[in-house]
Amino acid sequence: MRTQYLAATQEAIAHAAKLIQDGQVVGFPTETVYGLGANALSDSAVRAIFAAKERPADNPLIVHIAEFEEMAPLCEINDRARRLADAFWPGPLTMILPKKAIVPQVVTAGLDSVAVRMPSHPVARALIRQSGLPIAAPSANRSGRPSPTLAQHVLEDMDGRIPLILDGGACDVGVESTVVSLLGEVATVLRPGGITPEMIAAVLGQAMVADSVMRPLKEGEAAPSPGMKHKHYAPRAHMTLYEGKREHVAARICREYDENGGHALILAGTGNLPLYGSRCCYDLGPDAASAAHRLFAALRTADERQVLRVYSEAFPEEGVGLAVMNRMARAAGFDIVRV
Ligand code: TXA
Ligand code: MG
Repeated sequence: MRTQYLAATQEAIAHAAKLIQDGQVVGFPTETVYGLGANALSDSAVRAIFAAKERPADNPLIVHIAEFEEMAPLCEINDRARRLADAFWPGPLTMILPKKAIVPQVVTAGLDSVAVRMPSHPVARALIRQSGLPIAAPSANRSGRPSPTLAQHVLEDMDGRIPLILDGGACDVGVESTVVSLLGEVATVLRPGGITPEMIAAVLGQAMVADSVMRPLKEGEAAPSPGMKHKHYAPRAHMTLYEGKREHVAARICREYDENGGHALILAGTGNLPLYGSRCCYDLGPDAASAAHRLFAALRTADERQVLRVYSEAFPEEGVGLAVMNRMARAAGFDIVRV
C-alpha cells in the first residue's frame, strides 16, 4: 500500500473523511499525540487499526467524538461525566463508562466499558464531523514504540501500512490523554495526562490515582487499564531514571556516561544542561509541561542515534509531572535509581 502524506488542508481532511467512511485507517493529529483513526462502529475497520499497529487484541481503543451529543449513543452517561465534560472537553481527557451495544466488542477488547474522548485539535474535530462517525483511534505508533508527536513519526512507523497521514504539525501536549474511570464510586485516574488528578478532584470533589500508575504490575495482577500491562514507550536502548538533588543526579549520570564510553543520550532539563558539559544531551525544556511535549521525540532520537544507554533526570510527580514520570518509568522498565 502507498501511504499518502498530506498537509491537513480542507481538501485533505475531506479526503480523509471519505477514507474513514470507506472503512480505511487514517493517521491524524490530536492535541495529545497523533492517532490512527477508523470508523468505531465498523468491526472490520477497527480490526484494520489493530493490524496496522500490530496491537494485541486485548488492549481496547478510545472512541473520539466532536460533540457532547455524540456520547449518549455510545455509553451510559452519569452526572460526574457531565461535569468533567463541561470542565475539560474538548481536551485531553478520556472517560471510561459502561458501553452500549452499538460499540463493537473489538473496540473495547470485550470489556463492558468504553473509553470516550472529545479532542480539541481542529483537524481531529473536522475529521470526526465530516466523516459523520465516531472515530476509534489509538496512538499512531507501532505497538511498543514511543507515541508519535509529529506526522513524521507516524510515517516512520506506518509507511506502507495505511493509505493516508494528515500532517498537522507538532502536538501541543505531547503525552496521551488522561484516562479516568467513572465506573466506581470515586473517579480513578488509570493513565495520567494533561488533565491532572488535582484538576479532576477540583471538579468532582475527589479523585484517586490507580497505584499501578507509578509501579509495575505484580505477576498475575489484573491491570485496571489493559494498556498498563503491555510494554510501552520503550526506546531500543536501555534507559535509567535518576532521582534526587540535581547536582547529585548530574554527577552520577556523568560518571555512568563516561564509564560506558559515551554511546548514550542524557535527557535533562534546560537549567541543568551546563552540569553535563559537552556530553550528548537532549533538552527536555524548562518544566514538566515542556518535558511532556518533548519526551517521545527524545526517545525516538535515542533510537535514531542508536545509542546503547539513555540516562534521564526524574521529575516531581505532581501536576503534569505525574504523566511525564509514568511514561518515563515505563520507558525505563522501572529502572529508577535514587541518588
Ligand atoms: O491521547 C490519546 O488518548 C490518544 C489520542 C490518539 O487520542 N490515544 C491513545 O490511545 O493514547 P491508546 O490506544 O494508545 O491508549 C488508550 C488507553 C490504553 O491504555 C487502554 O488500555 C485504555 O486507554 N482503555 C481503553 N478502553 C478502556 C476501557 N474500557 N477500560 C480501561 N482502559 C481502557
Ligand atoms: Mg498508545
